[in-house]
Amino acid sequence: MGIKISKVYRPMAAFAVLALALSACGGGNGGGGDGGGAASQNLDSRGPITYVQGKDNSEVIRPLVDKWNAAHPDEQVTFKEQSDKADQQHDDLVQRFQAKNGDYDVASVDVVWTAEFAAKGWLQPLKDTMAVDTTGFLPATVAAATYKDTLYAAPQTSDGGILYYRKDLVPTPPKTWEEMMGMCSIAKEKGIDCYAGQLAQYEGLTVNVAEAINTAGGTIVDKDGKATVDAPEARAGLNNLVQAYKDGNIPKQAVTYQEEQGRASFQDGKLMFLRNWPYVYNLAKTDGASKVKDTFGIAPLPGKDGPGSSSLGGHSLAISVDSKNKATAKDFVSFMISEETQKFYATQGSLAPVLESLYSDAALVEKLPYLPVLLTSIQNAVPRPVTPFYPAVTLAIQQNSFAAINGSKSVDQAMTDMQAAISAAGAK
Ligand code: GLC
Repeated sequence: MGIKISKVYRPMAAFAVLALALSACGGGNGGGGDGGGAASQNLDSRGPITYVQGKDNSEVIRPLVDKWNAAHPDEQVTFKEQSDKADQQHDDLVQRFQAKNGDYDVASVDVVWTAEFAAKGWLQPLKDTMAVDTTGFLPATVAAATYKDTLYAAPQTSDGGILYYRKDLVPTPPKTWEEMMGMCSIAKEKGIDCYAGQLAQYEGLTVNVAEAINTAGGTIVDKDGKATVDAPEARAGLNNLVQAYKDGNIPKQAVTYQEEQGRASFQDGKLMFLRNWPYVYNLAKTDGASKVKDTFGIAPLPGKDGPGSSSLGGHSLAISVDSKNKATAKDFVSFMISEETQKFYATQGSLAPVLESLYSDAALVEKLPYLPVLLTSIQNAVPRPVTPFYPAVTLAIQQNSFAAINGSKSVDQAMTDMQAAISAAGAK
């Protein structure tokens, strides 16, 4: 680096060099690493890259990658498809990024992983020559891809919870949780299950519990990041899920459901109400196996007095700080978030655009009647806690809420333990 250390100031200067060297290692201590030296490498390099994301349920990625590859013979993209399970996707990315060999160039990163990965110094800051255009994007999607005032990923698709319901059985969807519980007698008469979301012990449970808590007027953390789950409103929120499970309004097997198991049950006509993400819409309409093609409707999540609050979901495209071909990676990211591509995500996969204007694009809205409901859901969505220590925070929520739902802990005990565990995780 050619830094000269004068004799007089040696101790201080040596400290400064050490600090520089440490930051060049990319942190790993939650210090908001910028990838250090690696972030300035390979910015102009072009060549083959690998794109990784979770299972392409809606079959949107392969056609896009084919389109890109046809136009870029020397910059081919290989699509690495992970499983459909959020936690497995996360752990796979952690292992690869930790190895620092750059074998994942571009990765689809869940909104709740940005802070963790950025703090570890694994993501290329998208600034200067690596900047991407996010003009007109929903502000919450950009905020979710930003850590310590730097954009670390490009918003790709957003996500908000929606209530899928059987309009042949329930002509008017419930507006409140209580109303929905009241309608469960209809499901019982028909011999089908009433309500399910994602209650297996994984990230989806955190999503569903956070929604129950927020809808009841509680919060997980306050604006300073301090845990607030021992407040009465938060307890009341979890209690709604616990009670519904006890009563059988949420079926026993629902504690094994991630997104896809709930979708299967709903499409099979065995579930009256399903909390899920927008991707289910197109599949439930078009899947050969769907028995509810013409009989399901969508509505905002039911709340306390009116619509409930959704957890903010979604994914952003990050470039690995160790990618060997960052110029190609950046162009591919720009292609994957372009307006045209976003329209394709919406029409082909009923995925939520990040470009706000698409929600009022007349032609699109005519084709996709779920867009207005979705926009309301996303605009009112509440982010999960933003912290580099998110893995420990989400584990605290999952373990304790799962114990309360399956009856091995009281709601009070679960919330007391959750409060302690979130605080210990260092959220604040
Ligand atoms: C969806 C959401 C994501 C969430 C995950 C939980 O993929 O977009 O934000 O964490 O579901 O399973």
